[in-house]
Amino acid sequence: MGLYHHCVFPYLLDLAMGSRVFDKPRRRTLARASGRILEIGFGTGRNLPHYPPGVSRIEAIDPDTDLDRFSLPRIATSRVAVDFHHLNAEHLPFAGDSFDSVVCTLTLCSIPDVVHALGEIHRVLKPGGQFLFLEHGLSPDARVARWQHRLNPIQNRLGGGCHLIRETVPLVAGSGLHLRDAEHYYLRRVPRFVGYMTEGSALKS
Ligand SMILES: C[S@@+](CC[C@H](N)C(=O)[O-])C[C@H]1O[C@@H](n2cnc3c(N)ncnc32)[C@H](O)[C@@H]1O
Repeated sequence: MGLYHHCVFPYLLDLAMGSRVFDKPRRRTLARASGRILEIGFGTGRNLPHYPPGVSRIEAIDPDTDLDRFSLPRIATSRVAVDFHHLNAEHLPFAGDSFDSVVCTLTLCSIPDVVHALGEIHRVLKPGGQFLFLEHGLSPDARVARWQHRLNPIQNRLGGGCHLIRETVPLVAGSGLHLRDAEHYYLRRVPRFVGYMTEGSALKS
């Protein structure tokens, strides 16, 4: 699996994350990003073109150095300046109450200790700050959910630790953030087991 994870998976991830089906959801999610922004799970940098014109600088973290071959060239040519760090979301070195917006797209599925990471997101947000998320997760349709449970071990192994069966809204609410809005939908032309999306935001009081 070493060769797969280091050499093949980064290309597959970049290809999947670059799919046009995510363009509008990314743009909608990032449209509200403002102030001091932290992006969690920067990946190969596919959010960069979708930040609104008012955003000129972000901080971003991702632990996977194998993605640098994609992310660093995108950072170098981006309109948005990026202060990038190789870090896990479970242990953020930033001061509490220090970000206006934290962004997370297609990443809560992959963070090993997602509860701890959401606790860190809550900690670093300023009071009144917003958590903007776009995530895939467990479908409310029993038939789809059954397949998600069946396929989860394979997805986890081949998809860089991705889980198909995480429930975004309960996870976010469990962190102490207050849900502001959440929309659920299936992506078109994407298999339902991986295309059940939750898009929304939550606030720190
Ligand atoms: C499916 S990719 C999504 C990448 C990007 N957010 C996007 O929308 O294109 C999931 C990302 O989560 C990152 N990740 C995995 N574990 C993490 C952790 N503990 N903390 C932060 N990011 C993590 C992976 O390295 C990967 O880049």
